Parts: sequence; structure tokens; C-alpha cells
Amino acid sequence: MMDAFSSAAQNTSFAGRRLHLGICGSIACYKMADVLRALLKMGLHVSVTLTDGARQFVTPGLFEALGAMPVFTNHAPRQDSFGEEAFAHLEPGQRAEAMLIAPASADALARLAGGRACDMLSAQALAFDGPLLVAPAMNPRMWAHAATQDNVATLRRRGVRILAPGNGSTACGDQGQGRLVSSDELLLACLQALAPQDMAGLRVMVTLGPTREPWDGVRFWSNPSSGRMGAALATAAWLRGATVEAVCGPGCPPLPDGVRRHDVRTAREMFEAAQSLWSEMDLGAFSAAVADFSPVPYGEAKFKKEGASDGFSVSFTSNPDILRTLSLGRREGQKVLGFAAETAPDMDALMTLVRGKRQRKQADLLAGNAVNAPGCGFGTDSNSMAVLDKNGHEEIWTSQSKADVAWKLWSWLLRV
Ligand code: CTP
Repeated sequence: MMDAFSSAAQNTSFAGRRLHLGICGSIACYKMADVLRALLKMGLHVSVTLTDGARQFVTPGLFEALGAMPVFTNHAPRQDSFGEEAFAHLEPGQRAEAMLIAPASADALARLAGGRACDMLSAQALAFDGPLLVAPAMNPRMWAHAATQDNVATLRRRGVRILAPGNGSTACGDQGQGRLVSSDELLLACLQALAPQDMAGLRVMVTLGPTREPWDGVRFWSNPSSGRMGAALATAAWLRGATVEAVCGPGCPPLPDGVRRHDVRTAREMFEAAQSLWSEMDLGAFSAAVADFSPVPYGEAKFKKEGASDGFSVSFTSNPDILRTLSLGRREGQKVLGFAAETAPDMDALMTLVRGKRQRKQADLLAGNAVNAPGCGFGTDSNSMAVLDKNGHEEIWTSQSKADVAWKLWSWLLRV
């Protein structure tokens, strides 16, 4: 759990943001410790309220020990995060920038819909006028009941974002809709509620991952690209409000549900998928490690080693350059972010290579990656980059997380 999505989303721009977490009585409430940890790891300030129901399963001490501050209960002393007297039922409303209630029980939905203020969490939600996210979890028959569905409809009508439960077997042994959405989805929903929506209305295409060029029935030509840089780009654009199309080579990480994913295998398939999307796009980020050449196929059958004990030769044909072709054929207003995977002795040498590649590819912005630098490049979580734009502005970024790189590259591309 909490891996692929989270590393793609975990950039430092959320540090210092304030979120309130309301936790109700449901077996799924133990999962909130993981969500809290992921949020705290990103530097967010998180306060928590446990209902009496939640306290049947987890203790305030658990969340305090992890770093939530403060942790409210129905019986908490009236202290704020600085240890001073405060109106606890009003505090998240005054300080938090978003509130997530997860898991939300059927009774919590009824209290929220009814505008009740009979317990700490209900009162805090009533006194909160920022973005409210609610992730219900309950027995499938309770979820399907008209009373619950009416409450959900009421909350939606008021602008509450409901993270509808998933299908499967619930802890009580029943099958159906009632499972709390995944911790990854909870984390992403919180980040989306806090993210600037500066890419809202923009249509974005990202190519990512390797391509795989088949040779015989079992072998192919490829490279070790993990797709993590592209996943970070797709996730960041989606968090910031863009409509995102991701053209993914084999083995790319999972992406948020809101991102439209097009899985392809070969460079030719990636080219065709990207080309058919491109005319509708405003921005393109070409992070895929596309195989420049494909082996001339041996065929569908497996190549047998008999008769080739002294080795053999394979010929290659060229593949289309997706970035260059789409960049040169772009319509007015489209912006292009390209990448360069290079081996270079130092960052200055990398920058020189990047200058030439930006020019050849006609990209508005080009980010060159030293794939031979320790801890950087294919399959890692961080990159050292030489970045430059068409106006000659140049920057060197050393050892930054791919999530941070993605965030900064979009900001730069919007400006250029
Ligand atoms: N690219 C592409 N289609 C290709 C090759 C590369 O779209 N057939 C894109 C990559 O996604 C990247 C940029 O072009 O954004 C540069 O890729 P890179 O592999 O660094 O360079 P190449 O163009 O392949 O040139 P070379 O291998 O000679 O450095």
C-alpha cells in the first residue's frame, strides 16, 4: 500500500499546509495511521479528531505519538496546538485549510447531513467552511439504504466531496460496496484539495516509461526506465487541476484514477497514441525513454540457439522521434516539455548536451538528466538535472525528488 502513488505525489510544496482529519468508528480506522504518516512525512501540519466510536478501535495516543497535533476527542481539554485555551470545536475551522473525515460511519453522514453539533467532530465540521472530504466505510446494506444515500446526496449538493466506498468483502463478512477507499486515494484527495488549481482547464499529455520492441516470440529490446518521472508529472498536473492523458510504456506505476491511462508497448504504438491525442492538448511532457531503434523481427517463434553457437547479428530500423515530430507539428499555443537522458562527466557537460538537444527537439523547456550520476536516473526517486528553456534561462538542480522536479517543471512551463 501507499507506495507508487504516494512517491509520485510527495513533493515539498505541501510542507506547512494544515489539514484536519476526522476519524469515526469503523474497523478501517486503523488505516488512518498510515495516511497520517504519509501526510506528516510531506511536512503537513495535521490535527485529528477521534469520535467515541473511533476510540473503540484506536487511541488518541497512537495519533499523538505519530505527530498529529492536537488530537481532539469528545472529552479533550480545551487546548489548541500551542497548549493555550481554545474553543476546540472551532479550532480546525480557524486553522485547517481542508478537512477529511475518514472513515465516515453511517451515523456520521447522518449527523453531517443534519447539521448536528452533538459531538466534537460534528461541531468542528459545522464550524468549518473550507473544502470538506468525506470517505464513508460501512456495511454494504447500510451504505445502500435510502437514508444513507439521501444523506450522501445532501452532502454532495452542499459541495462536500464524497470518496465513495469500493466494492469487495467488508470486515463484517458481507460482500458489496462499503470498503473505505485506498489510503493512496485518501492522500491524493487531501493533496488535491490543498493544491493550487493553476492548471485547471488545461489538457495535458504525458509520455512515460520505456518502450519494448519485440524481436522473437520471447525476447525484446528495451531500457530500464521505471516511468516514475512521468508518473510524478501526470500526478502533479492532475493535482493542480489539469485533465491528464498518460501514454504509458510497459511496467509504469499506478496513476490516480482521475488520469486517463493509455497503455502501449512499442515506440510505434506510443507514437500513434500520442499523435492521436496531441491536437487536443495544451501541454505535452515527453518523459518516455523511447527506443530509438527496433530490431528487425525474427518472427513469432522463439529463436533457438542451435546453429548460432558463434553468435549472430541483429539489424535495427529507426523509430519515429515522438517529441520532435509533435513539437515541430504543433499548433499555436501548445507548449512542450522534453527530457534528455545523458551520460555526462559533470553538470556543465550535461548542460552543453541539453542545449543542443533542446534546439534539435524545438522544446519550450528541456530537462536533462544525468543517468550515470549516483542515486539518479532510471528507477530512482531522485534526479540531478540541467534545465533550460527556449529563452536561454538555465538552472542546475541537484538531487531532487522526482515529485519536486515534476512540480517545478510544470510551474516553469506555465511561465515560459
Ligand atoms: N523521444 C521521443 N521519441 C524518441 C526518442 C526520444 O519522444 N524516439 C523524446 C524523449 O521522451 C525525451 C527526448 O526525446 O523527451 C530526448 O530523449 P533522449 O533519449 O535523451 O534522446 P534521443 O532523442 O533519443 O537522442 P540520443 O539517444 O541520441 O541522445
